[in-house]
Amino acid sequence: MHLHKFEKIWLVFGIGSLVLFMVILGYGAFWKGTHPQSHGQIIDPNNVEAYDAFKPENLGVNKVDEKRYVINVVASAFNYDLGTDKDGNAVKTIRIPKGSNVLFQVTSPDVVHGFNIAGTNVNMMIEPGYVSKMETVLNNPGEYTIVCNEYCGVGHHLMFGTLEVYE
Ligand code: CUA
Repeated sequence: MHLHKFEKIWLVFGIGSLVLFMVILGYGAFWKGTHPQSHGQIIDPNNVEAYDAFKPENLGVNKVDEKRYVINVVASAFNYDLGTDKDGNAVKTIRIPKGSNVLFQVTSPDVVHGFNIAGTNVNMMIEPGYVSKMETVLNNPGEYTIVCNEYCGVGHHLMFGTLEVYE
């Protein structure tokens, strides 16, 4: 079979870019821990409190045991509800010791939001009617911004929170 020179070049280019994309995908998935959130659980968006994790007293950081935490968040226009502190003020910064295994559970009562912890592998789409879950290990101390990366309305740019990983 005779292949024209240009045809060979394009074949190599096509197959080469396919392999390159697979390598990039594999690197993200296996070395960087990037994967889609689970959507195993459905929930009534009009009554998220019926689901234990989203009762007001369970929002924010819940310690399971040493180095294991569950963080429950209700994302709504235009706020992340991370619970309240002992004085009844809304929590804006959540703190986790480094090396902890953290399960994030997030839902929305209104529209689609994002839940991206910049600089980590946590990046979820939050859809009303579903509980988005993702488990990760936070190894690097620092301050991370939690941002909404799905356009959700006029206050979209005001929707953020802070996660602090301490030594
Ligand atoms: Cu919430 Cu954008």
